[in-house]
Amino acid sequence: MRETRLWSLHILVLPIIAILLGMHFAVMHYAPVFYGMSVEEARDFDTMIERGKSVTQLVLYILLLAAALYHGMYGVRGIIRELPLTPAFAKIVDIGIVSFGLFIFALGTYVTWWTFSFKIGG
Ligand code: HEM
Ligand code: HEM
Repeated sequence: MRETRLWSLHILVLPIIAILLGMHFAVMHYAPVFYGMSVEEARDFDTMIERGKSVTQLVLYILLLAAALYHGMYGVRGIIRELPLTPAFAKIVDIGIVSFGLFIFALGTYVTWWTFSFKIGG
């Protein structure tokens, strides 16, 4: 039951990833089409900081971070668990994957928060 729920979540986050990653690609790769600016300008530090002030962006990026990380980490766990592991070792893999995921989530959240609270000139 627990496995079914974890796997379902791995699949249910896919629409979130597809939509938010699509929006991210629109900003990073198709800025001339959607925002009337060059790709270089869209990835410029000042433009990034300007975008970063948006609360919507803060929330959506953290959501994308969580969804993609969960999907990716669950997928990697599935690959590792296909190996003939002892139950004790499988437990260690789970703890390692969850710890790594939480660490990257903290790092990614910090980065997004950093751009959100960045003050030009200090
Ligand atoms: C819109 C984007 C994406 C779609 C449509 C997608 C779709 C899928 C699907 C259908 C599966 C197989 C699920 C299953 O049968 O259990 C899968 C597995 C996986 N996905 Fe994604 N995914 C996307 C993005 C990502 C991203 C961004 C990552 C990395 C962070 C990722 C990493 C993985 C991994 C590691 C697996 C396991 C592969 C395996 O078992 O061989 N995916 N994905
Ligand atoms: C070549 C492709 C990519 C480029 C050029 C790019 C560029 C950037 C930039 C400049 C930011 C800072 C925020 C902003 O300016 O809007 C950012 C943030 C972010 N990107 Fe990407 N990105 C790419 C691909 C991806 C992919 C494939 C994913 C997820 C599967 C992703 C997930 C994120 C997340 C979650 C953030 C928020 C910051 C964080 O959590 O660390 N990006 N990206």
